[in-house]
Amino acid sequence: MGYIEATRRQKAIFLTGMSGRRAVVPFHANELREAAKKRLSKQAWAYLAGGAGDELTMAANRDAFSKVAILPHVMRGDASIDFSTQLFGQNLVFPLLLAPIGVLDLVCPEADRVVARACRNVGVPFIFSNQAGTPMEICAQDMGPAQRWFQLYWSKSDELVLSLVRRAEACGCGAIVLTVDTTLLGWRNRDLKLGYLPFLRGMGIAQYTSDPVFTALLDKGEGAAISGTPRPGVTLHTIGNLLRLKANYPGGIFKNLLRKTPLEAVRLFVNIYSNPALSWEQVRWLRQQTTLPILIKGILRADDAHKAVDAGADGIVVSNHGGRQVDGAIPALDALAAIRKAVSKPYPVLLDSGIRSGSDLFKALALGADAVLLGRPYAYGLAIAGQQGVETVIQNLLNDFELTARLAGCSKVSEIDTDMVLRT
Ligand code: GLV
Repeated sequence: MGYIEATRRQKAIFLTGMSGRRAVVPFHANELREAAKKRLSKQAWAYLAGGAGDELTMAANRDAFSKVAILPHVMRGDASIDFSTQLFGQNLVFPLLLAPIGVLDLVCPEADRVVARACRNVGVPFIFSNQAGTPMEICAQDMGPAQRWFQLYWSKSDELVLSLVRRAEACGCGAIVLTVDTTLLGWRNRDLKLGYLPFLRGMGIAQYTSDPVFTALLDKGEGAAISGTPRPGVTLHTIGNLLRLKANYPGGIFKNLLRKTPLEAVRLFVNIYSNPALSWEQVRWLRQQTTLPILIKGILRADDAHKAVDAGADGIVVSNHGGRQVDGAIPALDALAAIRKAVSKPYPVLLDSGIRSGSDLFKALALGADAVLLGRPYAYGLAIAGQQGVETVIQNLLNDFELTARLAGCSKVSEIDTDMVLRT
């Protein structure tokens, strides 16, 4: 299917409106969010929509965009457009990728596959999450030749890290996005209030349970207990959650009813998923293990951007993890401007956190991003209308971007530079 050009879609939407039919997926970011909220459990909503602490950074990510004004050119005498761009030798139809989001199965079953198919249809790359509910190989198969990357968390086992990288290479991922801002899980008030962490229910750990290194660790008995924590008391709730955990494990509830492996897998995951001792040394090591481009995601400071370059990273993703990690951290858009000054083009710098509209994308490009990652809005589209919902959210954002750029007198990405915006 591919991208449908803005004026064509705009006409189709207005003509359909003549017969009284309106779009199911809201156009406005806040309405999209509210419509998704109505369709999700309170736990799923807390996990997806929430951020760290008082969510000041989450709000600041949005505010930062409102403090940048576009300075449109008029009458450029050219109606042709081409907003494609090149990253690591890969052609992107637009400078947009779908961000990795963990535990998408909170939204619907097999959610990663649904999003993978949506990306294939619209022609936007999907970054598979390390915390997906479906193994990357299955999503890759669903995508055919369409572009995908893999997001990597560095666990306590380097062997597991390497195994995930090899699998990403084998299933056609075009880059590794090493997320370095989540070596510990942020203090997220909404999840803490509900006492809810989906991983403990066996959700979001499919890349692990499908991994030969992880399953070998399980066979060695490494999932015997969660280190340093008491066991939960046995209540009806515990039993219900244990059954759910078994249902979420590969094979389903009947195969797993009497097996200990699902519970052991969760314990092993909790013990090894994060590595607070991660350092630039490991990035150097990883650089030698694969020929895939490596991006470091979660950079907010110019000095760290320099370190990423020095460690051999091929690109960086400026991100505060959608405000989910350090509450009070600098808005991603503000960090972008400083980092782009420190690391000049053509070194690839991408922006993640806070993108909600086409004009946000325009502003990010103008402030130096080579491409941006879209996060929560596509999960909201998924909640509202499944695959069609994801496709619509992407289309709407790209159509909005296309018209914003054209109306600002830009017909290609290279024309969207600092001269096009003003910080107010
Ligand atoms: C993990 O990546 C999270 O943000 O929850």
